[in-house]
Amino acid sequence: MINIKVNTEAVKSFVDDNQIYAFQKKIDLAHQQLIEKTGAGNDFLGWVDLPSSIDDEILNDILKTANSITQMAEVYVVIGIGGSYLGARAVIEALQNHFSLMLPGKFPKIIYAGQNISEDYLSELMDLLDKKDYAVSVISKSGTTTEPALAFRLIKNHLEKKYGKANAASRIIAITDEKKGALKTLADSEGYKTYVVPDDVGGRYSVFTPVGLLPIAVAGFDIKKFVDGAKEMEAVLKSNTQIGKNPASLYAATRNALYQQGKSTEILVNYEPRLFYLTEWWKQLYGESEGKEGKGIFPAGVSNTTDLHSMGQFIQEGTRNIFETVLSVENSHKKLEIPEDADDLDGLNYLVSKSITEVNQGAEEATRQAHIDGGVPNLRISLSKINEENLGQLLYFFEFACGLSGYTLGVNPFDQPGVEAYKKNMFKILGKPGF
Ligand code: PA5
Repeated sequence: MINIKVNTEAVKSFVDDNQIYAFQKKIDLAHQQLIEKTGAGNDFLGWVDLPSSIDDEILNDILKTANSITQMAEVYVVIGIGGSYLGARAVIEALQNHFSLMLPGKFPKIIYAGQNISEDYLSELMDLLDKKDYAVSVISKSGTTTEPALAFRLIKNHLEKKYGKANAASRIIAITDEKKGALKTLADSEGYKTYVVPDDVGGRYSVFTPVGLLPIAVAGFDIKKFVDGAKEMEAVLKSNTQIGKNPASLYAATRNALYQQGKSTEILVNYEPRLFYLTEWWKQLYGESEGKEGKGIFPAGVSNTTDLHSMGQFIQEGTRNIFETVLSVENSHKKLEIPEDADDLDGLNYLVSKSITEVNQGAEEATRQAHIDGGVPNLRISLSKINEENLGQLLYFFEFACGLSGYTLGVNPFDQPGVEAYKKNMFKILGKPGF
């Protein structure tokens, strides 16, 4: 059953059905290009069939590796950047206890490296790893990305000093290209356990490969349910293209219709702090896929109600080029009663009969109305609750919709030529040979 719903009622005073349905032909073509792998970037369309093509053998192997990491490590370091880390972090942070790093538990604590070049971050990480038993996954499809390569060099050196070379090797898992790249060469020569990032799956579409699945499994979450959710969504999204029936077609067509009306910034809004990294994952997916050739909707994110007290002013009254997509979660996992207070000095006794989720939902609805009045169209993507199956559905939904939307916009959603520009300058500035 599909637990993700797209509601476009609150965009209708900005773009009407005719303007949205006018995209049906382009969506049909985009859909065909994705399924038949005939569009631009078609050598990177392996992700389209990933959920339905993952077999139990690979899932069981990942679970076995996760189990051996759990036996040997209290901390598991995930090294990667961009698409080689955000999917795993999005899912883990969506599912784990907010305070899990401070709590005892049977699974290793997950920490991240290789997503920045901060000397303080890396030094403090080394200090922490001095005191912890740990294992590491180094994830890089190309095997040459500076940030994770630098972090891995430091951590490999630390591991070998701490455990000896042979024992260190048993604590390292490399997830990289099947045949080429520096990391593949190193993994082969050192005898690391490796997993493959398929040639035809780009980083930001790789969460349903070992890139996402191994860290999620080490964190103790059910990767079979996660993949099952994605499989259910894959079947629905592949089965028809109609804007009225296919939620990815509806989302892709609506955001293109809004873009046509000058709404060039989309803000993904959450009201659950555990969705912060899901927003970061989404920003990368849409930003790298659509922002090219002078086109694209700028993907931004806010976490409410926190950001209502910072970005709320701008969204309400600033430049009117914004639309919002609210990730709306219908049910919380936990219940907490609001206690009655005899003095009621804070004036909150009127909330005593309500749950905190009702208060949060009240804030969400009030904000929605205020922003619509302020000229901000509002899409809502709702999920019944946050669990592995629903996250599998949601992430695959966003990937598929991104492919449809990018083709509809007229770009290749599967390359990222612009990412190279800063690298050339950086290599030159830092004196890399040949630059
Ligand atoms: O989506 C992408 O392709 C990028 O964000 C990459 O994932 C990111 O640059 C990391 O690349 P690599 O896995 O080659 O280290």
